[in-house]
Amino acid sequence: MRTNHFAAFAAALLLASPAARAADLSTQQVMQEKLGHSQEILRGIATENYDLILANAQKLNRLSHATGWFTRQTPEYELFTNELRRHTDALGKAAKAKNLDAATLSYMQMTMSCVACHKYMRSAKVASLK
Ligand code: HEC
Repeated sequence: MRTNHFAAFAAALLLASPAARAADLSTQQVMQEKLGHSQEILRGIATENYDLILANAQKLNRLSHATGWFTRQTPEYELFTNELRRHTDALGKAAKAKNLDAATLSYMQMTMSCVACHKYMRSAKVASLK
């Protein structure tokens, strides 16, 4: 328990300090990875490679869990993250069912959820202090 409390305290300190900038950097890295997986999914759809679609949809889904805790915790952000997860789940299901049309539709819906969150971030001016 003691170590847990310490870890929570250390995390709170980290978030309150200039080191919070590091969280932004890793958000950028996570986003670059998201982009890579999206591109691989499109490659999978274009070549009807269901294994490729499934593997990258699962990685994207896991990444969406990874960003959650340190990025701005607003209800909207959570909503967009959930949307992304829902579509990567649907993509995975479509790949398992070897349903190319369903995978293509989910891919488009997923892309719209990337864009929706980015639009929100820009309008709320919370994405970056740059
Ligand atoms: C829940 C919100 C959210 C979702 C969903 C989301 N992003 Fe992002 N994205 C962000 C934020 C916040 C940044 C800004 C990161 C920064 O500059 O600190 C960002 C930045 C980026 C960047 C630019 C990174 C850089 O090098 O500056 C790329 C590329 C990107 N996202 C791709 C994606 C893709 C592809 C998806 C969908 C598969 C996606 N994002 C979904 C929140 C989101």
